[in-house]
Amino acid sequence: METRASGLAHLVLRDCDARGHGGLFDDRRFALAISWPSTANGAHRRLKIFGEPPITYMNTQLLIDTANKLVADDKGLLAMDESNPTCNKRFAKLNIPQTVEARRAYRELIVTTLGLGECISGAILYDETIRQQKKDGTTFVKVLTDAGIIPGIKVDTGAKDLAAHPGEKITEGLDGLRERLKEYYQMGARFAKWRAVIATSADIPSRSCIEANAHALARYAALCQEAGLVPIVEPEVLMDGDHTLEQCRAATEEVLRTVFNQLNSQRVLLEGMILKPNMVLPGLNCPTQASVDEVANITVKSLWRTVPAAVPGIAFLSGGQSAELASARLNTMNLRFKSKLPWALAFSFARAIQQPALEIWRGDEANVPAAQQALLHRARCNRAARRGEYTAAMERT
Ligand code: 13P
Repeated sequence: METRASGLAHLVLRDCDARGHGGLFDDRRFALAISWPSTANGAHRRLKIFGEPPITYMNTQLLIDTANKLVADDKGLLAMDESNPTCNKRFAKLNIPQTVEARRAYRELIVTTLGLGECISGAILYDETIRQQKKDGTTFVKVLTDAGIIPGIKVDTGAKDLAAHPGEKITEGLDGLRERLKEYYQMGARFAKWRAVIATSADIPSRSCIEANAHALARYAALCQEAGLVPIVEPEVLMDGDHTLEQCRAATEEVLRTVFNQLNSQRVLLEGMILKPNMVLPGLNCPTQASVDEVANITVKSLWRTVPAAVPGIAFLSGGQSAELASARLNTMNLRFKSKLPWALAFSFARAIQQPALEIWRGDEANVPAAQQALLHRARCNRAARRGEYTAAMERT
């Protein structure tokens, strides 16, 4: 017997054999299953209630394989996808010229760092960067691919003020996204990134800001999977402000719950995506800061409560933490909890990997080898943090 309830859930009651093989439930996620022996020959009856299944694309296996590769072998992602305005801001602070050529030279420094592929599984590029080449004409996409690093691409077009919600933002970029994804796939990208930003204070985030951003993230993720690109789903609860650790925890959990509701309702294949969240931290101006252990414990607890086990990996953003603290916090999470968690805990840092290298380079070609050394060092520290093997002593070598 099969009955269909209206709305989101299907209610199915049917006979199946003792091992539950009836065909109908294969590849379907369900929320509740009750089975009981019902006949003399040992057949079971099962009651299962489940949500809408994710759609099966031609490229489902590709998505799953790519998502798993991105978090395999204790590696992580390097975010080098700063938009031109953000990259220029970071250059301006160090008196580096804010030109196309300076941005290209800096990205060449990054992608040609020997040994980066030992620690980095994927690199997130920006629209300008994915079209650029080394001085000798080799495309950055080829340089990365030859180093065993999967090229990815930032596809949101930035966070804009959310109308009628002072202090809150909505990330844009859905218009024309299907066509842009097609082009990026042809250029060699195999994953994409979209960042939503959520500010926290006494009366924000609002429910409407969380819902609008979660909906956009889910629409983006579904379009990525349709195009064969693994979506990196990045809802960032910002560190700016004086909110407490507890306020960040509450906001992070509400955001993640809403994001996964939306991902499910847009039929996103959870096995073919990566979550890129913030760590749970007190605001930068909060008078009470938290220890590395407190951050590790509360962050894992929040993720445990909200992230489905089907997701292969969680790759944190660094969000303005110092490079060393980001490594130490990731390390403690893995040291304490790795064997108990259903998903890999990895990194997808921009500033916490790049900043020391940028400060050494300062736009001077003579500094390239030292800057590359600093970049590789941070990548190695974070790979060690995935293994729970990072120590402060590594910073002195
Ligand atoms: P940070 O690690 O500097 O926060 O950057 C990560 C990122 O990709 C932001 O979108």
